[in-house]
Amino acid sequence: MLTPLHWIWNGPLALGWVTSSAIVFPILRKVGLVPEANKLDFIANDMRGKIVIVTGSNTGIGRATALNICKMGATVILACRSMERAKAARDEMLEELHSLDAGHRFDFPFARKGTLVCMRLDLGSFASIKTFAEDFLGRYKRLDALVLNAGLANGSGRTKEGFEIMFGTNYLGHFYLTKLLMDVVKATPDSRIVSVSSLMHEFGCLDWQGSLSGNYRALKDRIFSSRYNDSKLALVLMTLELRHRLKGTSVRAIAVSPGAVASDIWRSFPLWYRRLVLDPVMSLAFLSNEQGSIPSVYAATHSNVSDEDEDDETNVPYFHPYWSPSPSFLMPWEVMGPFIGFTRARPRLPRNARAVAKELWYESEKQVIQHTKI
Ligand SMILES: NC(=O)c1ccc[n+]([C@@H]2O[C@H](COP(=O)([O-])OP(=O)(O)OC[C@H]3O[C@@H](n4cnc5c(N)ncnc54)[C@H](OP(=O)(O)O)[C@@H]3O)[C@@H](O)[C@H]2O)c1
Repeated sequence: MLTPLHWIWNGPLALGWVTSSAIVFPILRKVGLVPEANKLDFIANDMRGKIVIVTGSNTGIGRATALNICKMGATVILACRSMERAKAARDEMLEELHSLDAGHRFDFPFARKGTLVCMRLDLGSFASIKTFAEDFLGRYKRLDALVLNAGLANGSGRTKEGFEIMFGTNYLGHFYLTKLLMDVVKATPDSRIVSVSSLMHEFGCLDWQGSLSGNYRALKDRIFSSRYNDSKLALVLMTLELRHRLKGTSVRAIAVSPGAVASDIWRSFPLWYRRLVLDPVMSLAFLSNEQGSIPSVYAATHSNVSDEDEDDETNVPYFHPYWSPSPSFLMPWEVMGPFIGFTRARPRLPRNARAVAKELWYESEKQVIQHTKI
């Protein structure tokens, strides 16, 4: 529900965004005060023979992520809730790949080896997640990257098991999927689990009482989309816990933020709001899906994403697409800074993040067990 509070918050933000993206940064870049985009040479990585799952890849950032990784020669599983939309997206992407062959063969030397496979996955249903995982494990013996991309940023309703729709889909569905695929990820050398979070994780404050009592349904309505923020914070905390659970293996757990992207995610906002506020700001200041996919693609495929500080208990590798003066500076750089492709930053976590992440994992496990009787 949009309230006057959003206008107060969004007005200056929108103005700052447009001014900095369309006027200030181009000028600063021209005079050399802001760096050029990172060299995206890694896009020509060799991913032949590798298997990658991208959830929610029929549109938006997920589609661009899948296509970029496929251009590196990988087999990419389009894990989508609608097979019709997935197949339509696959056909379009294949067309793009074929047209690449003619003009850009040298930029993407392995593109011809890439494959796109559609598989049904509804993250709002534990039964669908289980069927997907069984189907995948029946077909493939390795999983080089699991990109947990699908997400909803608005909306009401519940998942099949009765969890609030955003928390249930964005976080809990992905948590269950990760659990089911963990063994195959571990068995694959140098594999990745990439959680697509958001700068909004900074505003997340999980309902800890609800989580302690094992009752996520107790999540209360707070300010704008806070359940979305909670789901994005939960994904970062899951990454932190994964990092500890995967110590001693070659699996890397990484969180990313795609930035502010003009994707389909805004379709669920009221029409008047899109026309009056979002569309003008998006056309001038938001990133394209292609740009927003770069942190995910980098995290899923680049050879050098190892933890910089293994001993820091609360360190979570976290990439976003903007330049910032320091890894600890998130807002406003993480959303309004100049686009450079990927930057390593430090997500903003609760003070006792390690304990909270552990607790969230146990509580999530409890919920999954209760609802799947495994
Ligand atoms: N756009 C931004 O500015 C922004 C900023 C920060 C973070 N993100 C994150 O980036 C990720 C991708 O978002 P996007 O901007 O690309 O949005 P999008 O264009 O709306 O794409 C979202 C994808 O998630 C899928 N999805 C939704 N519910 C699902 C379910 N129950 N099961 C399986 N798939 C489901 C959608 O499928 P359908 O087409 O069938 O609905 C769609 O493929 C999300 O996690 C989002 O939170 C986006």
